[in-house]
Amino acid sequence: KALRSKRRKQVSLPGPWSFPIIGNLLQLGDHPYLTFMEMKKKYGDVFLIKLGMVPVVVVNGMEMVKQVLLKNGEHFAGRPNMHTFSYMADGKSFSFSVNYGESWKLHKKIASNALQTFSKAEAKSSTCSCLLEEHIIEEVSEMIKVFAELTSKNGSFDPRNAITCAVANVICFLCFGKRYDHSNEEFLRIVKTNDDLLKASSAANPADFIPCFRYLPLRIINAPREFYQVVNQFIALQVQDHLTTYDKDCMRDITDALITTCQNKYASTKTATLTDDEIISTVSDIFGAGVETVSTCLYWSFLYLIHYPEIQAKIQEEIDENIGMKSPRLEDRKILLYTEAFINEIFRHSSFVPFTIPHCTTADTTLNGFFIPRKTCIFINLYQVNHDETIWDNPTVFRPERFLNENGKLNKSLTEKVLIFGMGIRKCLGEDVARNEIFIFLTTVLQQFKLKKCPGAELDLTPTYGLSMKPKPYQLQAAPRFPDS
Ligand code: HEM
Repeated sequence: KALRSKRRKQVSLPGPWSFPIIGNLLQLGDHPYLTFMEMKKKYGDVFLIKLGMVPVVVVNGMEMVKQVLLKNGEHFAGRPNMHTFSYMADGKSFSFSVNYGESWKLHKKIASNALQTFSKAEAKSSTCSCLLEEHIIEEVSEMIKVFAELTSKNGSFDPRNAITCAVANVICFLCFGKRYDHSNEEFLRIVKTNDDLLKASSAANPADFIPCFRYLPLRIINAPREFYQVVNQFIALQVQDHLTTYDKDCMRDITDALITTCQNKYASTKTATLTDDEIISTVSDIFGAGVETVSTCLYWSFLYLIHYPEIQAKIQEEIDENIGMKSPRLEDRKILLYTEAFINEIFRHSSFVPFTIPHCTTADTTLNGFFIPRKTCIFINLYQVNHDETIWDNPTVFRPERFLNENGKLNKSLTEKVLIFGMGIRKCLGEDVARNEIFIFLTTVLQQFKLKKCPGAELDLTPTYGLSMKPKPYQLQAAPRFPDS
C-alpha cells in the first residue's frame, strides 16, 4: 500500500506523456539538454520523464540544482545502476559506482588528496612553482612544436590529436611518472576516446534504459566496452609495474601515493581503504576524467578563437602588454583577467559537459514539494543554468566581457554561476588542475601563434551530443606571430 501511495505521489510530478516500453526516448532528439529546456517552459524546473521503463527526474534552474547538489546533497549523491557504468573501471570506479556511503566518501577523499598532493608537489626545476606547472609547460612546448611542424608541412591541420596527446601526457606524468611521444600510435589509441563512447556514456543512452538493447550487436553499445577494456588494461599494467618497483621512501606519482594508502590500511583506524583493484580503478577515474574533459575544452577554445578573431586579438593584446615574451605561468592567472573571462565564457557558452554524470537518490526524499523515492535516477541540466535568461544577458551571445566589472576585475559572483564542474558531494575533483592547464595551454599557444580558420571554411559551433560534447572536426592554421624570434 505504501508503495502504491509512493507511486501515486511520484506520478504527480509533472512531465510529458510517455509511450509504453520506450517512454520518452524518441522525444529527446539530438540535443536532450535543449529538449529539456523546452519541456521546462511547460512543466517547470523539475519534471519527470521516462527513458524506456525507467523514471528519470530532470532538474533545471539554479535554485533547484543547488537544492539537489548542496542543500539536500546527501539524498541525491548516488549514481544510478546503469549498464554503461557497470564496466567502467570494472565496476569499481568511485566516479560511477552505485555504492554510495562512508567507504565511498573515504575513497573520494583518498583520490582527491593524491591528486592535490602531486599537482602541488615541488617542481624539479627551480623556475616552476609546482610539479603541475612544470609538466604543463613541458607539454605545451611539445604541442607548439607539433603545431609548427603541421603548419609548415600541411598549411592547415586538425589540432585534436596534438591537444589530446599533450593533455594526456600531463595527467600521465602525474599518475605514472612518464610521458609518451606524440607519434606513439599505441598511446594515441588509448587516450583518444571515440565519439561512440561519448554518446554511450551520456545521459540517455538507450542501452541503459531498454535492457534488451544491450544484447544487440550495435556499435554504440559494444564500442565503449571494447575501449574501456583497452584502457583498463593499460592502467592495470602501469599499476602492476609500480607495485613491483614501489619504494615507500620515494613517492614518484599518484599511483605510488595510492599504493602507500593501501599499504597503510592495516595501520589505519578507518574502516575502509583501497584494495589493489581499487587503486587501478582510482587512477583510471582520474586519468579518464582528466584527459577527455580538458582536451575537449581546448579543442572548443581553438574553434571559438578562430571563429571570433577579434576576441583572440584581445587576449593576445593582454598577453603582450602584461607578460610580453615571458613564458606564461600559473601566477599570471591573477593578471590576465580577460583571458580568465574568456575561459569562463567558453565553459558557459559551449557547456560542453551539458549534464553532470547522472545522479541517483540515496533515500526517499522531496524536491520542489514532490516526493521522489530512493533509487530514482536524476539528470541535472547544467546547460540550462548556463543559458538561463534570468541569470545571463543574451545567453546565446559569446561575450567574455560579461564577466568583467567596470574596473576590469573579474566578477566572481558571476563566474561562480557558471556550472560545468558540478557542486557539492559529487563535485569534480579536478577543477583546479583543469583551470590551470587550460590557462597555460591557451596563453602559451596564443603568445606564439595567430590562429586562423582556413580561407572560405564555414565553422560550425553546434556540438555533437555526449557525456562531454565535441565540436565537429575542423582545421586551423597556426601562423607564428614572431617568425624570427
Ligand atoms: C566529475 C566536469 C576535469 C576528475 C565531474 C563532473 C563534472 C566534471 C560535471 C560530475 C559532477 C557530478 O556528477 O555531479 C569536468 C570538467 C573538466 C573536468 C568540465 C575540465 C574542464 C577533470 C580533471 C580531473 C577530473 C582534470 C582529474 C584530474 C573528476 C572525477 C570526477 C569528476 C574523478 C568524479 C567525482 C565523483 O563521482 O564524485 N567532472 N571535469 N575532472 N571529475 Fe571532472
